[in-house]
Amino acid sequence: MRTQVAIIGAGPSGLLLGQLLHRQGIETVILENRSADYVLGRIRAGVIEQGMVGLLEQAGVAERLHKEGLVHDGTELAFAGARHRIDFKKLTGKTVTVYGQTEITRDLMEARTACGAQTIYEAEDVMPLDFDGAKPHVRYRKDGKDIEIECDFIAGCDGFHGVSRQSVPATSIENFERVYPFGWLGILSETPPVSEELIYINHERGFALCSMRSPTRSRYYLQCSLAEHVEDWTDARFWDELKLRLDDQARERLVTGPSIEKSIAPLRSFVAEPMRFGRMFLAGDAAHIVPPTGAKGLNLAASDVHYLSGALVEFYREKSSAGIDHYSARALSRVWKAERFSWWMTTLLHRMPESSGFDRRLQHAELDYLVSSPAAAMAMAENYVGLPY
Ligand code: FAD
Ligand code: DHB
Repeated sequence: MRTQVAIIGAGPSGLLLGQLLHRQGIETVILENRSADYVLGRIRAGVIEQGMVGLLEQAGVAERLHKEGLVHDGTELAFAGARHRIDFKKLTGKTVTVYGQTEITRDLMEARTACGAQTIYEAEDVMPLDFDGAKPHVRYRKDGKDIEIECDFIAGCDGFHGVSRQSVPATSIENFERVYPFGWLGILSETPPVSEELIYINHERGFALCSMRSPTRSRYYLQCSLAEHVEDWTDARFWDELKLRLDDQARERLVTGPSIEKSIAPLRSFVAEPMRFGRMFLAGDAAHIVPPTGAKGLNLAASDVHYLSGALVEFYREKSSAGIDHYSARALSRVWKAERFSWWMTTLLHRMPESSGFDRRLQHAELDYLVSSPAAAMAMAENYVGLPY
């Protein structure tokens, strides 16, 4: 088998890259080690920057997003028992759209099927090979048979635990990492959201986030210890703990109900440098992870795909390798800005297990500054809505 770009991973990075390339007449094959249903069952991000909306439009998959996505002009920050609004639209002229990662993935999968591009699900032992040499190829096993795909380029879009980054010799890659001493316990429920906009909460008992997927579906998160097991969190316990972290008005308005999904995610900052190894490129979570507090993970994956798809189009159309030569540096410059913002939002809003009274007073002073200084609010807003590509 032969293709132009072999893509490893059918998450948002791989599927979006495939669609953008397809629209430019570049052929791809996607290899995914899970089933399509499994990929669609993972509940993850929900806040989409305008830049990513533009990319989804470019990929021809934004119709449902425009119909069902919720456009938010701002967000709320709650601390010391009161809520404060950051008005993104007034400060930056930009908005964000609340639309689930699952829905984006579904839209991309359907578009890929409609255009006849190939995705091989449940591909076992996927392995990128000879990406530093002249004949890059990907080997995998399917239905007991070993298969090889020859290609011009390999795109490693296979997430943090994927095989692409792990195939790079340790001497050619440098990893930067911070692991946080807490996780997020998330719940999805068929209940109306507690508020029209998201509420990010700094509380004595730990961080909480009120988010949503639609006017009838809510997504809530609680900071939890890494020692917690999801089985120990009954729905009742989750709602009781959330109520303790809400302000009075939100507590009264909260509608509770059975959970549809419940899971714990650890928080991590991670960057691998560089993001190109000969004819293999890393994109999305395969190259970097941010803690979710800044809602940047998915958006960062999209910005990588923007740079990478542009570089590959330039290579095939104009026979120029300038774009692929600059891919890693351009992507990493944006990645580190998102890493800084996500780390800052995380330290501002969470309760650190070792924090002293002094640390907590400082957090409140910084939050106070953020909601009372237009310059500080502007800095937060412009990062949250997304820096330009
Ligand atoms: P992924 O979505 O991880 O996709 C990678 C794909 O590659 C997967 O389908 C995987 O099955 C496949 N794959 C892996 N290994 C192989 C292999 N060896 N061979 C073939 N295929 C392989 N971001 C936010 O902004 N907000 C959130 O609330 C949020 N919550 C999250 C919760 C969790 C548990 C996780 C893991 C991430 C969360 N994120 C969140 C981050 C966001 O979801 C990711 O940044 C986004 O999914 C990145 O997309 P991706 O396509 O790069 O990687
Ligand atoms: C959601 C997740 C986030 O990490 C975030 O910052 C905002 C919203 C969500 O899943 O809705």
